[in-house]
Amino acid sequence: MTGNSKKLWVDSHSVVFAGLSVVLLLTGCGGDSTDDPGGSRLSKAALGKMLYEDTNLSKNGNQSCESCHSLTLLTVGSSPAARGFADPDSTSTAPVSEGSKAGEFGDRNAPTAAYAQFSPSFYYDSSSPLNNPNKPGYVGGQFLDGRAVDLVEQAKGPFLNQKEMNMANEAAVVAKVRDAAYAHMFKQVFGASSLDSGNEATAYNQIAEAIAAFESTAMFAPFSSKFDAVQAGKASFTGAEENGFQLFQVDGKGRCAECHKLEKIGGSSGVLFTDFSYSNIGVPPNPANPVYAYLPNFVDLGLGKRISGEEGKFKIPTLRNVELTAPYMHNGSLATLEQVVNFYNERDPKNCSGSAVPFVDCWPDPEVADNLDDTFSGDLLLSVEEEADLVAFMKTLTDGYFTP
Ligand code: HEC
Ligand code: HEC
Repeated sequence: MTGNSKKLWVDSHSVVFAGLSVVLLLTGCGGDSTDDPGGSRLSKAALGKMLYEDTNLSKNGNQSCESCHSLTLLTVGSSPAARGFADPDSTSTAPVSEGSKAGEFGDRNAPTAAYAQFSPSFYYDSSSPLNNPNKPGYVGGQFLDGRAVDLVEQAKGPFLNQKEMNMANEAAVVAKVRDAAYAHMFKQVFGASSLDSGNEATAYNQIAEAIAAFESTAMFAPFSSKFDAVQAGKASFTGAEENGFQLFQVDGKGRCAECHKLEKIGGSSGVLFTDFSYSNIGVPPNPANPVYAYLPNFVDLGLGKRISGEEGKFKIPTLRNVELTAPYMHNGSLATLEQVVNFYNERDPKNCSGSAVPFVDCWPDPEVADNLDDTFSGDLLLSVEEEADLVAFMKTLTDGYFTP
């Protein structure tokens, strides 16, 4: 990770601007006064932004949430360095994120934190209300295996994760917040004694609550892509993009939308390209994952790591901003969108054998063979041009194309 050199909102004018956009969001929300009697939600999200960006909340003072989930803004005409709220330092040769301590790596590729606010609290869906052929099954939660029930629980994880921010314990995180320049904001939001010694357990929850409030703002869900513009009748697809969209749909040749759903769910104002359910599409293991250096037999069972019978399933990711978030899949094994589409198209006919070069000439066997989703096809019979059209379509999902 590189510290925060790519941060955009560093000067005070920008911070004021950030506050304003939160105000706009709240006015748009229709005054949810019952669970927010003091109108504290605005300052809670603004406080959450401070916490989200504070590198001092890591053991070596060098890593914040933002280090792995970049906030580089996706506004119209924004810098090409925008990384879609994923890790700006991830590449195909460094597919997983380095922690606060140099040389410590997690074993998963950092997903985008954008649009995560729409994932429902983790639950078992027995009635198929989402009309998913994969149902009944587990839905929602945060992390690729849903092990945090919601954003608040999720935000409590990274500070104490040895391979991430590596803080000793909750009290150590609270102590750093107590000394932070924004401590007065914390007390404004949560009460004058909120950071006093003895209140650490509550304060730690409140830190997570504030971060979750920030992650639930419109900034994390701009719905400002070309796709949204087309849906709003303000732009039109090129021929390639339109063809890609047709192939993408449930009854198209690619059938991508069977999982990357074209429905609006969880109160979102736009399509999320997921219903947050779980599936195993047979992603191969990634030989470049540093985990094998210390765990040669490592297998990521996904949801099956914590719920038996669910081996190999991962939460279906949104495809919004996917152009910006390479490498792909839970282990970063696929370097480009072209490779992803070829994997879906030719995994089966191009299964590795003999001297063919994996990931180049052929596709290795799945990391986990159990529970392969039968709506997944590794043999879509897409032409080279159709593969390219699917990629062109996915590139219309990048935010910052227009102002909705
Ligand atoms: C060292 C890099 C790193 C840091 C620092 C980090 N994350 Fe993450 N984040 C990840 C990885 C990797 C995952 C996926 C882990 C998993 O599924 O087990 C993840 C998952 C998430 C998710 C779930 C997204 C989804 O689709 O399920 C959210 C939200 C998130 N992080 C927010 C945060 C917040 C808030 C912080 C700061 C408190 C933070 N992250 C710090 C790497 C990081
Ligand atoms: C059976 C359900 C299913 C179908 C059908 C499906 N996907 Fe996926 N997709 C997933 C799951 C699950 C993952 C994450 C897998 C993992 O990390 O191991 C994923 C991951 C991806 C990713 C990587 C996203 C990221 O952030 O890493 C892309 C891109 C993608 N799919 C595009 C497509 C396209 C294009 C199609 C159609 C050709 C398609 N998918 C069809 C379930 C599906």
